[in-house]
Amino acid sequence: MTANSTVLQLLPADLQRERLPRHVAVIMDGNGRWAKRRGMPRIMGHRRGVDVLKDLLRCCRDWGIEALTAYAFSTENWGRPLEEVEFLMMLFERVLKQELREMMQEKVRIRFVGNLHALPLSLQAEIERAVEATANNSGIQFTVATNYGGRQEIIQACRSIAEKVQQGLIEPEQIDEALFERHLYTAGICDPDLLIRTSGEMRLSNFLLWQMAYGELYVTNTLWPDFDRNEFHQALCAYQQRDRRFGKL
Ligand code: IPE
Ligand code: IPE
Ligand code: MG
Repeated sequence: MTANSTVLQLLPADLQRERLPRHVAVIMDGNGRWAKRRGMPRIMGHRRGVDVLKDLLRCCRDWGIEALTAYAFSTENWGRPLEEVEFLMMLFERVLKQELREMMQEKVRIRFVGNLHALPLSLQAEIERAVEATANNSGIQFTVATNYGGRQEIIQACRSIAEKVQQGLIEPEQIDEALFERHLYTAGICDPDLLIRTSGEMRLSNFLLWQMAYGELYVTNTLWPDFDRNEFHQALCAYQQRDRRFGKL
């Protein structure tokens, strides 16, 4: 380990601990472009992206951030070439298997959001195993958005509320923001304070549409496979400069 990386395990001195985001979300974009620039197949970028995510998770833990959510696969990503989709599903499964032991050691609580039933059965089984095994861990809440779409999440919440109304379990007047949130995939997880998107794209791409109503956005041109602790530090510095008014003065 280099002297520099040892130093970066501690919260950088120019960050105020009491003003850190509680929950950081990331749109890990730019893997394909990163690989292409190196004359490599796109999947090499995804592979490298996993290492970056692992280090970010560790960094969040080191610096005292309570929750991290990562966008791994969108409902729209099924439209990519089959080869790439199959590689990603295989990668998710392999990484989950490999990392479970370390997640237990580091007390990570992993959770998945998205339409999980449409994923390959072997991946679903691995997800279930990891979620159950880590459910009582006391460390960072790590949420992975897989086959996730914000619009789809809102629609499935509406459906399940409508069914309960039909069954007479709830009255339409009882539907408020709190009840609605309990029907989202993210029930029980606080909204992100900061959403970081890499590779320069200024859009949400269907990520956390409800939850990001008041989250701060930070976009960097850096491609995901190059996103490191220094980059994260910069994002947190920018966040701490923001004046979060929530519509007030
Ligand atoms: C993000 O990187 C990873 C996933 C969407 C799974 P991309 O694969 O979108 O990389 P670019 O945007 O094509 O460079
Ligand atoms: C968003 O990236 C999805 C993930 C990072 C998993 P995309 O690369 O799919 O988004 P667009 O197509 O540029 O909007
Ligand atoms: Mg992309």
